Amino acid sequence: MEQIKINQKLGEIVTMLPNASEIFKNAQIDFCCGGHRTLKEAVSEKGLDQEVLLNQLNAAYQKFIEKAEGEIPATASDIDLIDSYIMPHHVFTKQILPEISELAGTILRVHGANHRELFTIHKLVRNLEADLEQHLIKEETILFPAIKEYALNPDENKLRQVMEQINETEDEHDTAGAILKELRVITNEYSVPDDGCATYDLTYELIQRLESDLFEHIHLENNILFNRFELKAV
Ligand SMILES: [Fe+2]
Ligand SMILES: [Fe+2]
Repeated sequence: MEQIKINQKLGEIVTMLPNASEIFKNAQIDFCCGGHRTLKEAVSEKGLDQEVLLNQLNAAYQKFIEKAEGEIPATASDIDLIDSYIMPHHVFTKQILPEISELAGTILRVHGANHRELFTIHKLVRNLEADLEQHLIKEETILFPAIKEYALNPDENKLRQVMEQINETEDEHDTAGAILKELRVITNEYSVPDDGCATYDLTYELIQRLESDLFEHIHLENNILFNRFELKAV
């Protein structure tokens, strides 16, 4: 099984293991602003025990993988994985993104003068929306059909095409993860200011819902579906 390594960047670790953010918080490691640092750098800065933290992260990662895999029958084919497990995340994302985007515009208009960070939040949300809209279309119209074709009639050429597309897709996952990380920083971990309103609360709540769904979604793609192809291509 893949393991979390000491030379990995904090941001990457949070993408692999969503609740790593809790472990980092408890260890008082700033994974938001310092997400580009490696675990090794963060640990030595804080004078923490490298081994203890790494073991804790890997134990949590193992549980996370077991839980995620436990929900997916080992016999699920690549086509099942796409249609029954991944596509519901696409439906959810397509439904929640326009809602968040509209709400970000509303709170910008009402509170932007007093909370200038809402201008950046609005832009980040719109960028995330545009990126994810294209990303889902690319998966649904290029990558998933290529995987399904390969599943029905495998050959080397199709495998190469799938792998090329997978690499591009993984880069896009990193880009979306980076925007979500920036949102977490700029919203101060989604703390609504005292003069915020119910719409403000709802906007932050929905962005967090999208974030946690997206982590699960990316996990199914990167670590389960794509991993099967990475093993075939070795
Ligand atoms: Fe997807
Ligand atoms: Fe994806």
